[in-house]
Amino acid sequence: MGAIFSFFNQKGGVGKTTSVINIATVLSGRGKKVLLIDLDAQGNTTSGIGLDKNNSEFTAYQLLVDNSDPISAIKETSIKNLYAITANSDLAGAEIQLINQEKREFVLKTQLEKVKNDYDFIFLDCPPSLGLISINALTASNYVIIPLQCEYYALEGLVSLLKTYELVKKGLNTDLMIGGVVLTMANFQTNLTKQVIDEVREFFKEKVFNSVIPRSVKLSEAPSFGKPAVIYDTHNRGSQAYMELGVEFLKWFGTEDDRIRLAQEQKMTDGAENPVLEGSIPQSNESGNANPENTDLANVNNHSENVVPGDEKA
Ligand SMILES: Nc1ncnc2c1ncn2[C@@H]1O[C@H](COP(=O)(O)OP(=O)(O)OP(=O)(O)O)[C@@H](O)[C@H]1O
Ligand SMILES: [Mg+2]
Repeated sequence: MGAIFSFFNQKGGVGKTTSVINIATVLSGRGKKVLLIDLDAQGNTTSGIGLDKNNSEFTAYQLLVDNSDPISAIKETSIKNLYAITANSDLAGAEIQLINQEKREFVLKTQLEKVKNDYDFIFLDCPPSLGLISINALTASNYVIIPLQCEYYALEGLVSLLKTYELVKKGLNTDLMIGGVVLTMANFQTNLTKQVIDEVREFFKEKVFNSVIPRSVKLSEAPSFGKPAVIYDTHNRGSQAYMELGVEFLKWFGTEDDRIRLAQEQKMTDGAENPVLEGSIPQSNESGNANPENTDLANVNNHSENVVPGDEKA
């Protein structure tokens, strides 16, 4: 049964879309069947994976407002195992139209019940707002993934983000959990980045993924080619960090078989030349119980080997 993840932060431009696209791509490359749902009227996820924003048939809008069958809205992408429901500017009207619907916070959850068994992972790319679409996403999800930009103001927005999370958890979805925090756009040469990373780790503890995403020109270029960065350019530090993050994600949220396979890969690549996989699988937590709820704090906080040491010069 597919676990559902909301990539959520009401602050704009923190790396939600970039993270959701690249993690989904890494997982699908590893044989996981992933459904990526664009819930933002900007349609950046849609265009970022090479799908057409102008096609207004069977998008997230119809899914939420017209109660269309989700199966008819799911599109294949050029990436094996990766499927998507697209969005475009039509979705801007959905917030208002949802207001009058019965059980308006549960519309997406009800829709996803129909397809979640067909996927290993379902990822929801939330818009930068605390509106009804984001509430629908959080209500439908098992986990929230919080992308945080490594800058001072990132921490300010956390209060209202966590308030929204708590409200949804209390009133609409008691099972909701914080799945993980992704640190994005790090510039490792600045003290501010180091300070933010320390503060976020201090606050969220083992919930913070080890792989920190550096600022990278290639990551910002890739969407204009309609390709995930991890496919567009595999060699830059940003893509490599997302490849590591994807592996880490699989270790945390995949099956026991996934963890066994990753551990075997780790053994095989020990001392080998694959720079992407080296260090990508946390050395710790070999017990196989990688659920972040149970992760060994001492191990996970020992993240220094996974942090990309310098900002990209591209
Ligand atoms: N690590 C990075 N290095 C450089 N540029 C990045 C990085 N991550 C994202 N970007 C760029 O920053 C911008 C914002 O990123 P992204 O769209 O992923 O954020 P978002 O949180 O989804 O934004 P929104 O809230 O508007 O949906 C985009 O132009 C993206 O290409
Ligand atoms: Mg976005």
